Amino acid sequence: MADNRAIGVFDSGLGGLTVAREIMKLLPRENIVYFGDTGRVPYGTKGRDTIRKYALQDERFLLSHDVKMIVAACGTVSSVAADTAEVLPVPFIEVVSHSVRAAVSATKNGKIGILATSATIGSGAHKRQILELLPSAQVIESAGTLLVPIVEEGWTALDDAVAIETLRRYLKPMIDAGIDTLILGCTHFPVLSSIIRKILGETVTLINMGEATALAIEKCLEQSGSLNDGTNSAQYKFYASDKTEAFKSTVNILLGSYNKDFEIEQVDIEKL
Ligand code: DGL
Repeated sequence: MADNRAIGVFDSGLGGLTVAREIMKLLPRENIVYFGDTGRVPYGTKGRDTIRKYALQDERFLLSHDVKMIVAACGTVSSVAADTAEVLPVPFIEVVSHSVRAAVSATKNGKIGILATSATIGSGAHKRQILELLPSAQVIESAGTLLVPIVEEGWTALDDAVAIETLRRYLKPMIDAGIDTLILGCTHFPVLSSIIRKILGETVTLINMGEATALAIEKCLEQSGSLNDGTNSAQYKFYASDKTEAFKSTVNILLGSYNKDFEIEQVDIEKL
């Protein structure tokens, strides 16, 4: 048995493309429908009810594309609104639990940092799950509110003074505490990895939620016999609720070598 329908992936904006990229890398046969809610980004500074309402609309949009699975490629939705998936007729994968497991296996000194949006940090989702798996862990959290707009603007170059200074401030408490593992708890952040590495040094393990999640997607599709068995190359469709000036260069940065100058269709998510 196989299922050649697409995997539906959504995020508050373009950051979820870092998860899409990992799916493209690990599962090159899988078709993907991506929705980025660029008209309403960021979610991470909004309240729980708003985030839940948006997540439900995003999920409904993907279902209208007959996807076989929905991936919340957004740390904020995964932390605050994962229960919106209880009513979905297809499997749902979020990004928090898999990255927590990866962090707990990676840490040696039990000191784990979490850099995420304020809604994600406020939900306590990562911390709670880490302590369930490793009760002796010391968890140091930082709400990197300014980092999402920095990434959406494309200010991610290794020498970008704004990104460097902002990250230095957010990471200071983690450096002081001596973390050996850092969860990039927002899907926008993997593109800041090189700067983070420069600040933290090579000894700290960075957990990219996209990598951990792609492995979970593979396992889920394998177990249910739903991997794509097609021989054609995968089809990728991209939708967004707004397009900005910086759009193309940001997509380029986030998809890296997987960017093929894809067309992105604008949709009115409120009207669906
Ligand atoms: N990519 C989202 C996340 O992982 C972005 C944050 C936001 O919309 O604030 O949390």
